[in-house]
Amino acid sequence: MKVTVVGAGNVGATCADVLAQREIANEIVLIDIKEGLAEGKALDIWQKAPINLYDSKTVGSTNDYSKTAKSDVVVITSGLPRKPGMSRDDLIVTNAGIVKTVTENVVKHSPNAIIIVVSNPLDVMTYQAHLTSKFPRTRIMGMAGILDTARYRAFLAEALHVSPKDIQAMILGGHGDTMVPLPRYTTVGGIPVTEMIDKEKLNAIIERTKVGGGELVKLMGTSAWYAPGSAAAQMVEAIVKDQRRVLPVCIQLDGEYGIKNCYLGVPVVLGKNGVEKVIELDLNADEKALLETSRLHVKEVMEVLDKLPK
Ligand code: NAI
Ligand code: 2OP
Repeated sequence: MKVTVVGAGNVGATCADVLAQREIANEIVLIDIKEGLAEGKALDIWQKAPINLYDSKTVGSTNDYSKTAKSDVVVITSGLPRKPGMSRDDLIVTNAGIVKTVTENVVKHSPNAIIIVVSNPLDVMTYQAHLTSKFPRTRIMGMAGILDTARYRAFLAEALHVSPKDIQAMILGGHGDTMVPLPRYTTVGGIPVTEMIDKEKLNAIIERTKVGGGELVKLMGTSAWYAPGSAAAQMVEAIVKDQRRVLPVCIQLDGEYGIKNCYLGVPVVLGKNGVEKVIELDLNADEKALLETSRLHVKEVMEVLDKLPK
């Protein structure tokens, strides 16, 4: 299997490293616009192979998409990250241009690829890549829900003093402060979370999760990369190994949850064809209202994209 990661910055290089380290793909191409950066990081990852014992070959390229030809999966991480004081939406103008150009190149060289978008603002950059690629919606998706859910699970594991492995959870909606964590679908080793933690503590964790990306931007001066890179690699793994994992993924909704033509995170089955199935949860009135707020926010940013000069 051949996987291309576009953008050899913090998230892209981490994703390529996880793909190699875990032998998720046997051929990994890292590509960036900055001269030598992707080649250098790919070489470094390859030189780690004899130490950490893997044989996935990682190569780098400066903007030569012929090296990416016939990729099975392409992860797009190119674009500016957030700086302190910025929201993800502030990145739209620059990143829309980058995602458009990159997607054109990807489609030209890998017309059958499955594309995973990571660049922010995530839901709207997935929309941009969908508009440009014209791929069926099952082959163009965004990574955010796995990251947001991981943050929520990590906070819960810490509060409950249990392994993060045993926390299962689902978060719906856009990748931003309007995301919709679902306590009703959160369990700890199969036990409903509400039986393990009091309401006030759970609410505090939900609120911290919603601004989880911002917490890291404040600490580091740029956005996170270890968890985002690993989350994107988990999506690649589900696809290339046809695992049929049930994961939150950003996709264009086509009537599910009563929503059309909006890009939101929902649970899907992820396998060799990309999104094999969208899972519709039976939401209660409060959850529906929160998802609607998230939809309105994403739609507003999609409209900003629609109005950008083409
Ligand atoms: P970074 O600045 O470390 O890396 C971005 C890379 O993209 C740079 O190396 C840059 O040279 C490259 N690039 C820019 N234009 C390009 C082009 N036309 N073709 C190829 N490469 C190009 O940024 P980082 O931290 O890796 O973040 C990347 C993006 O991912 C940002 O937009 C960030 O907001 C987003 N992000 C999204 C997350 C999510 O959950 N969806 C989580 C974390 C970051
Ligand atoms: C994150 O959530 C900024 O989207 C990025 O870390």
